[in-house]
Amino acid sequence: MNMKKDFLWGGALAANQCEGAYTEDGKGLNIADIMKCSKKGIPRIIDADIQEGEYYPSHEAIDFYHQYKEDIKLFAEMGFKCLRMSISWARIFPNGDDELPNEKGLQFYDNVFDELLKYHIQPVVTLSHFETPLNLVNKYSSWRNPILIDLFMKYAEVVFHRYKNKIKYWITFNEINETMNKEVPWLQAGLKFTENENHNEIKILASHHMFIASAKTVILGHKINPDFKIGCMIQYTPSYTKTCSPQDERARQLYYQQNYYYTDVMVKGKYTTLCQSLLKRLNIDLKISKEDEYLLQNGKVDFIAFSYYFSYVVKAINKYEFSIEKKNEYLKRGQWNRNIDPIGLRIALNELYHHYEIPLFIVENGIPLDDQINEKDEIIDEERIEFFRNHILQIKQSIDEDYIDVMGYTTWGPIDIVSVSTGEMKKRYGFIYVDKDNAGKGTLKRYKKKSFDWYKMVIESNGEKL
Ligand code: BG6
Repeated sequence: MNMKKDFLWGGALAANQCEGAYTEDGKGLNIADIMKCSKKGIPRIIDADIQEGEYYPSHEAIDFYHQYKEDIKLFAEMGFKCLRMSISWARIFPNGDDELPNEKGLQFYDNVFDELLKYHIQPVVTLSHFETPLNLVNKYSSWRNPILIDLFMKYAEVVFHRYKNKIKYWITFNEINETMNKEVPWLQAGLKFTENENHNEIKILASHHMFIASAKTVILGHKINPDFKIGCMIQYTPSYTKTCSPQDERARQLYYQQNYYYTDVMVKGKYTTLCQSLLKRLNIDLKISKEDEYLLQNGKVDFIAFSYYFSYVVKAINKYEFSIEKKNEYLKRGQWNRNIDPIGLRIALNELYHHYEIPLFIVENGIPLDDQINEKDEIIDEERIEFFRNHILQIKQSIDEDYIDVMGYTTWGPIDIVSVSTGEMKKRYGFIYVDKDNAGKGTLKRYKKKSFDWYKMVIESNGEKL
């Protein structure tokens, strides 16, 4: 079995979940900075502003801002070929609509990229990973306002020019399809709703503005450096039907319609019949100008990046509605109510590739475990090793037997970071343990887990040894 020689092995981080230093060197607030840690099963509270004496996990996170050199050294020791990370928009434009960029913010990312390149680790950069500057939400209602397109373009142009000789791989919006999700529109698009509003209409409009921003970014990026590879990024959760009834199968089609809505526009460069059918079902009349049609057609992405964690089970409620659950009697259940489904990753790769036939990049995959450190300072995370072994095996089979073009694989949170959904630290994904708890207490000291050496071996052997 063969992975390509230049297969991009590595890990993935997001600025708001690792950097900390939330107001340092001129950084402005972003939407993650006002989110608290949640209690079990309760969504994170989003404050209107920062409250004195309250704990906000992103403010310090794991202090990557000051400790990036040590952390990158550990990634290099594992043999990373790439590190997926995001630029925090509010470090570059603290209010999002400032006239000039913040030089100190730009310098920070220069330092990080240089450090990575020193070890031949390619940065893979997400422009917007749940990090919209807060001022853009308060002043313009975020992505529901088309002005965000221009402001985003200004930001993209600055970083494209600045880093054009350091970065090749760019990703526009993290998990853009999460905009349609019940809880995530805040993180993804900074969307808040009043009671009487038509939520779907706003989400579709905000998504349209992000599609135009994505297309313009691709066009601009290719002009600035024709070697740039610019991708979209979705959360891809394949789903199985609860029963083999035609109603459930039809429900599954409806579920998929929502995911492909996003990739169709960004990969095929138009609102396809599938997209139109979703709009009809939601009873939304989206007006698309000739200019927008032109932009979408000319700003198609170079690759599809996606996250994969688990699979769903879909069941019909009626002709137009369906329910989704994670419980699947055929699958083992892990912590945080997740099923463990390595074959689901192969299914995801097949479904996406055979729909679009452009390169795929698995930019998030991993298992959250409440890892414990023993008296010898060891963390024996066999379950994580087993999880990755089985998932990587499926990737290899997808490449060898299904002819899928996979560019690379970056595991989520190669070092423990703040969980986006709960704000917890104990929801750990890393090969490197960080001493910090859910209340923000700890030394921030880093420890290698057992999986550290295992992943090193996998990369060294280009996936041969698992
Ligand atoms: C993805 C996000 O949805 O899942 C990441 O892109 C996130 O930002 C990851 O951290 C894992 O989710 P969580 O809630 O366990 O941190």
